Amino acid sequence: MAKSLAIEHPKILILTARSVVKADIIATEIKKRYPSQDVCTVQMDLSSIDSTRLGAKKVLAIASKIDIIINNAGVMAIPERTLSVDGYELHFATNFLGHFLFTNLLEKKFSSNARIVNVTSGGYMVCPIRFHDLNWDGDKDLPVDEQPDMAMIDALGIGELARPDSYNPMLAYLHSIIVTELQRHVHGFRNQTMEYKTASQGAASLLVAALDPNLQNHPSAYIDDCQKTVIVSDHVCNELVAQRLWKIAQEMTGLTG
Ligand SMILES: NC(=O)c1ccc[n+]([C@@H]2O[C@H](COP(=O)([O-])OP(=O)(O)OC[C@H]3O[C@@H](n4cnc5c(N)ncnc54)[C@H](OP(=O)(O)O)[C@@H]3O)[C@@H](O)[C@H]2O)c1
Repeated sequence: MAKSLAIEHPKILILTARSVVKADIIATEIKKRYPSQDVCTVQMDLSSIDSTRLGAKKVLAIASKIDIIINNAGVMAIPERTLSVDGYELHFATNFLGHFLFTNLLEKKFSSNARIVNVTSGGYMVCPIRFHDLNWDGDKDLPVDEQPDMAMIDALGIGELARPDSYNPMLAYLHSIIVTELQRHVHGFRNQTMEYKTASQGAASLLVAALDPNLQNHPSAYIDDCQKTVIVSDHVCNELVAQRLWKIAQEMTGLTG
């Protein structure tokens, strides 16, 4: 994806990564192919509030303005419940809190047409935000509107993997699977009801979201399979839910409102 972005010759391409060595390899490849392209890497572990703050500080120091952020990092199916250095469940800390904090810290340098691309799985179709158990402590009575949609789970063919009463890192499975390192904890997991794509095919939707001129001046858009489409689950379109989550994320990351 970073290599494809370089084709558009942005003023500067900043690659953040927890394993900066991996990002350096990509940066070197880009530099080789496009010698005039300014590209740099910043070490940042999104599961850590301190590291994310430091990473954002470095990005702010490098970029004069920010046109596009692609919030694309993520972990999936960590087998055992694991807490971040800040004490938050690691999927939630990495996939959501880190990006939330990073994006908010960069806001002061957003250009007027800045695009923030937030990558999601189809997990939102399966389960609403579990406000009563954000840290997956378990053994909690979740209200009806926070319980997973078992019919949807069955339809996706992940029934046995998605028991609502246990720590459940599989809830975030999508209707199509892009074969990447994301599946490192579920070696060889195959589900006949799902479609498989290459990493390039998967990255295409993110590039559409980041670059398609037809989306310019659009307040928001949901892109699936490179097409602007409609979100099907009510709970992700609910403004009260969004505000509640925003406030909680502010508190959890120490971001003042
Ligand atoms: N692949 C799919 O089928 C699928 C489906 C639905 C959603 N998604 C979402 O798509 C996004 C991209 O995933 P992918 O499939 O390309 O997986 P990937 O190849 O594993 O890429 C994820 C990236 O996130 C980085 N990362 C993980 N934890 C991090 C942390 N704490 N701080 C900073 N970076 C961290 C990883 O770094 P390392 O290289 O150091 O591990 C890796 O570069 C993720 O948000 C994922 O949830 C993917």
